[in-house]
Amino acid sequence: MIQEVVFPSGKVAYYFDCSAEEMLREELNAIFLTDENVFRLHEAFFEGKKVIRIAPGEAGKTLSNVELICEQLVALEATRETILVGVGGGVITDIAGFVAAVYMRGIKCTFVPTSLLAMVDAAIGGKNGVDMGLHKNMIGTVRQPQSIYFDIEFLQTLPDDEWKNGFAEVIKYACIFDHELFEKLEKRDATHFKTSRTALKGLVQRCADWKNKTVVNDELETGERKLLNFGHTAGHAIETLYHLPHGQAVAVGMMIAARIGEKKGVSKELVSTRLEKLLQRYGLPVATPYKTEDVMSLLRMDKKRSGDEIQYILMEEIGKGIIRRLSFATIEEVLRKYENND
Ligand SMILES: NC(=O)c1ccc[n+]([C@@H]2O[C@H](COP(=O)([O-])OP(=O)(O)OC[C@H]3O[C@@H](n4cnc5c(N)ncnc54)[C@H](O)[C@@H]3O)[C@@H](O)[C@H]2O)c1
Repeated sequence: MIQEVVFPSGKVAYYFDCSAEEMLREELNAIFLTDENVFRLHEAFFEGKKVIRIAPGEAGKTLSNVELICEQLVALEATRETILVGVGGGVITDIAGFVAAVYMRGIKCTFVPTSLLAMVDAAIGGKNGVDMGLHKNMIGTVRQPQSIYFDIEFLQTLPDDEWKNGFAEVIKYACIFDHELFEKLEKRDATHFKTSRTALKGLVQRCADWKNKTVVNDELETGERKLLNFGHTAGHAIETLYHLPHGQAVAVGMMIAARIGEKKGVSKELVSTRLEKLLQRYGLPVATPYKTEDVMSLLRMDKKRSGDEIQYILMEEIGKGIIRRLSFATIEEVLRKYENND
């Protein structure tokens, strides 16, 4: 099924429920970027193709890897006609998008997301980039790929922990946009989505639609796109400091945001209790040990900071996110209250 989404900076063709192998078979100008895990588990997919491989994981999202990949593109005689195809999780789609934006001042790129997290979130929306030391996604651009191929067959090899990371982002959409999805997730569990192709395809497309809708209206994140950062502000700090997987850190970040919303009287209902149960249902943590001072020092360097305040995403009610300017003192108070909650 093809869906064309028109962003301010360009059109993207979304191929839902497709075989990426079939779709890309005739693509003679393609050079593929993937990580060693995805390559090893899906070797047949890469047979006969020009492939650049990097080590798996967040540690690969660096400027030095960008340079190495560009060197390999030169060695493979990539020209301005080349299409860089990122096949992998969010690390690969982020770095492939960035390399494509800067190699020869820009070549085309296409994504084949292979993790649930990349299918529902990372591959969509045009943000790309790399980390710089402790600063996640510090260097990057906003540039759309020409197409995205959603092939859920790849998920058959996805490890359990990576499913959990993906579900954290699914739960994020439910919290900020989609009360009905929240209720559906409450009734079902991870096994249901892992075993029912129809349910999984529906879930991926529903989340992709939410992300598309938000980014079409606000590609450069001056307004509503910020809602997608729900759980990510404290979440990113915790991920960086304690090396928690992205989804787990976002889960803890969502709990912190829910509690801040309740403390500030922004939330109309006790959102944190329902969120806590839902996160646990999908195997996600609701707390982790952290040091408030360390989290605060990273938050003070956050891109959303302005003076003594930071824009924070809270939940007004289940299914409705809201952007609020908060003082660092407010955040610190809540962080301290739950500091030893492990
Ligand atoms: N650009 C954006 O808008 C955006 C949004 C959300 C997240 N992100 C970024 O995405 C990254 C996280 O994405 P991720 O969780 O996919 O990380 P990832 O790319 O590191 O993948 C997670 C792990 O799963 C493995 N994997 C991927 N697909 C697999 C498969 N089909 N079978 C077996 N193993 C597989 C990878 O090798 C890796 O070990 C972070 O860097 C985050 O910053 C970007």
